[in-house]
Amino acid sequence: MQKIIILDFGSQTTQLIGRRVRELDTFCEILPYNKFPADDPDVIGVILSGSPLSVNQPDAFRLDFGALFGKYPMLGICYGAQLMADTFGGSVESSDTREYGRANLSTLDVADPLLKNIEPGAQVWMSHGDTITRLPAGFRTIASTPTVANAAYRGADDEKLWGVQFHPEVFHTLCGKQLLENFVVDICGSRRDWSAAHFVDTTVEELRSQIGADRVILGLSGGVDSSVAAVLLHRAIGDKLTCIFVDHGLLRKDEFADVMSLYEGLGLHVIGVDASQKFYSELAGVIDPERKRKIIGKGFIDVFEAEAAKITDARWLAQGTIYPDRIESMNITGKVIKSHHNVGGLPEKMNLRICEPLRWLFKDEVRRVGRSLGIPERLIGRHPFPGPGLAVRILGDITPEKVRILQEADALFINGLREWRTADGDTLYNQVWQAGVILLPVQSVGVMGDERTYEQAVALRAVTSTDAMTADWAHLPYEFLAKVSNDIINKVRGVNRVCYDISSKPPATIEWE
Ligand code: XMP
Repeated sequence: MQKIIILDFGSQTTQLIGRRVRELDTFCEILPYNKFPADDPDVIGVILSGSPLSVNQPDAFRLDFGALFGKYPMLGICYGAQLMADTFGGSVESSDTREYGRANLSTLDVADPLLKNIEPGAQVWMSHGDTITRLPAGFRTIASTPTVANAAYRGADDEKLWGVQFHPEVFHTLCGKQLLENFVVDICGSRRDWSAAHFVDTTVEELRSQIGADRVILGLSGGVDSSVAAVLLHRAIGDKLTCIFVDHGLLRKDEFADVMSLYEGLGLHVIGVDASQKFYSELAGVIDPERKRKIIGKGFIDVFEAEAAKITDARWLAQGTIYPDRIESMNITGKVIKSHHNVGGLPEKMNLRICEPLRWLFKDEVRRVGRSLGIPERLIGRHPFPGPGLAVRILGDITPEKVRILQEADALFINGLREWRTADGDTLYNQVWQAGVILLPVQSVGVMGDERTYEQAVALRAVTSTDAMTADWAHLPYEFLAKVSNDIINKVRGVNRVCYDISSKPPATIEWE
């Protein structure tokens, strides 16, 4: 399959370049800048990312252009553009003022193929301290802003080489999508053959030849990634796939049963393990959030391992690892700095081989693949839910009674979000990124009937976000908040006060622990 190679020089937005290329239905791989694949016949073009470095630093990342130049169309972004200009004899200097934020292309060469359908005045997003003060001989400027003379340039007419000082991959470069389309489709000649249906067909074939008649184990979490991985594998190898779903007793109300029945409806063979008592007893009296996480992580591996060991003929462990997990696991020199294995250590111990069918997909692509596999929207559209579950939403120690209170309150909130229709006919649930209730370690005085009460307070949390890195509190309608507050206080024994969390991330986080 055709692919674009994105060489990563360490920019925070390298992943976004990848997403934008995929949105153009074109496969791409993000690789460390010094790991260009030699002799890959599928490569149709190369993009060089930005970087926190300056090309003038002695330890700047440099590229061996010999392997690329003249062979592939190339687009340098920010540092990538500066590096090409510097390498081919131009000058890059530190600018007097660092340039961050919005700018407009005041002049541009509308005849250049990179700028097709982009109008003068187009908004772009800058983020750089260095600037290209002189282009190499034979290169020419194709766009400028009032403060950046070489906002975009190209090499000689017979060289397919372009550089842009701004970031076409970020949302605020309004013409960025068009520019990348011009590069990927018109200049590199992408056939736009990367689609969910295509991915399913080719991956099913690959899995069949990779796995053969072996048995595979997969840990399901109820989340989107592991569910899509399971259905994909099931399509490839049928009943040779065995799934294990561990209930640590800290899931949402009825979630274990709901999700099990959804999985059964999909034809998956799932072993459900109710291990709640083990987790409650190991967590008793534990207050520190990180200790809670460790106990749950280890407990999960123990239970999973014990179940997996019963499947004696298993040869593979499948995981729902997705592309961002793997990119985050590597720094730009390809060294692993963080492991994302959900069941760390298990494959080595059990002598299992790892199978990660979603390893090339971004989150939105996982959802598209899930839909194309016919997985119900109720599973695909689920909010993210932390692995340690309600444990990090019960502040202080955890008891079965507190879990019950929180599950009841959370169900009223989440079902309320699912049922509340917005003006455009959607639900509030679909409009927020994530929501849940926090049980506070606080009791407060109230009055119910003629009785004084002294009961628990809960906080509602709902946020909007695109990636959980930053988030804003969701501006839910007052009428909705009033209804949920009433429902919780009237129906959940033990709660007499409901608050709404109006903190954004940063400086707060989504979870309270
Ligand atoms: P924070 O609270 O850091 O959360 O803003 C960002 C996202 O990560 C989820 N989260 C976790 N997920 N294990 C997980 O699997 C955890 O320990 C954990 N802590 C937070 C959180 O729900 C949000 O989606």
